Amino acid sequence: MNYRHAFHAGNFADLHKHSILLAMLSALQGESPALAVIDTHAGAGGYDLAGEMARRSGEAQAGIFRLKAAADAPAVFQPLLDGVQEMNSGKSGDLYPGSPRLIARALRSADRYAGCELRDDDADLLRKTLAPCANARALQADGFDTAAKEAGKGGRAFIVIDPPFERPDDYQRIAATTRAVLSRAPGAALAIWLPIKDLETFDAFLRAMETVTRDLLVAELRLRPLTDPMKMNGCAMVMIGAPAAVDPAAAEAGDWLAARLGEPGGRSRVWRT
Ligand SMILES: C[S@@+](CC[C@H](N)C(=O)[O-])C[C@H]1O[C@@H](n2cnc3c(N)ncnc32)[C@H](O)[C@@H]1O
Repeated sequence: MNYRHAFHAGNFADLHKHSILLAMLSALQGESPALAVIDTHAGAGGYDLAGEMARRSGEAQAGIFRLKAAADAPAVFQPLLDGVQEMNSGKSGDLYPGSPRLIARALRSADRYAGCELRDDDADLLRKTLAPCANARALQADGFDTAAKEAGKGGRAFIVIDPPFERPDDYQRIAATTRAVLSRAPGAALAIWLPIKDLETFDAFLRAMETVTRDLLVAELRLRPLTDPMKMNGCAMVMIGAPAAVDPAAAEAGDWLAARLGEPGGRSRVWRT
């Protein structure tokens, strides 16, 4: 496992993922008195964008730093911007929260969060990030297996799946885990992040997911036309059990990111299957 999210923290894909994730969490809280969130691929929980990995990639400069400087950022980004500000103690700083910290700060007293991380170094950081949060715990465990075994214990399941896509079977494991979660906890909600490099891989994944459930909400963001499949040209959030309020929030996030961070030919689309 070579992937380190510190290279990519705060990039356009994190802004898309984290803003939509927080909109979905808030909408689910409106429907369910208690949520049991499992973040299958949690990462370190927070990142220093002045650190070597982030500076080397420069991705945050083209992402969160542009969002923070924008005068026209729509409301959907506010919970994320609040999380960034809180992590920097209210000052303008270089820290960026990952999904564990963003979710943990939004939990109600009846909600629970478990973040899974396999790498020793990131699991250590995750434990430290979550230590002050009473309802959140870090597990050094395989996230796919944990979701399949634990979904729905202690509240309505909300499963967040954000793999590094280093392994060729990540797409198959997402579909298998979704199937296992929905058979264990039929009312579960899921939010799955995907990179978009070429259309064939993305389409094949959606076709595979349609054999698992017909209840898909897809938020697709392309920063540029998909002419070079070696690049991450965009990203998508594929959601199951998403309340109706998530559709306009996802459109608001995607439209702004495509217009402000995208290249000519970039676009955003939100649809239900
Ligand atoms: C894309 S990063 C997660 C970023 C995080 N969700 C966020 O938004 O802040 C993926 C993480 O999953 C970890 N990982 C890879 N395979 C895993 C598995 N099977 N179970 C749990 N963690 C895994 C990697 O070490 C990496 O830190």
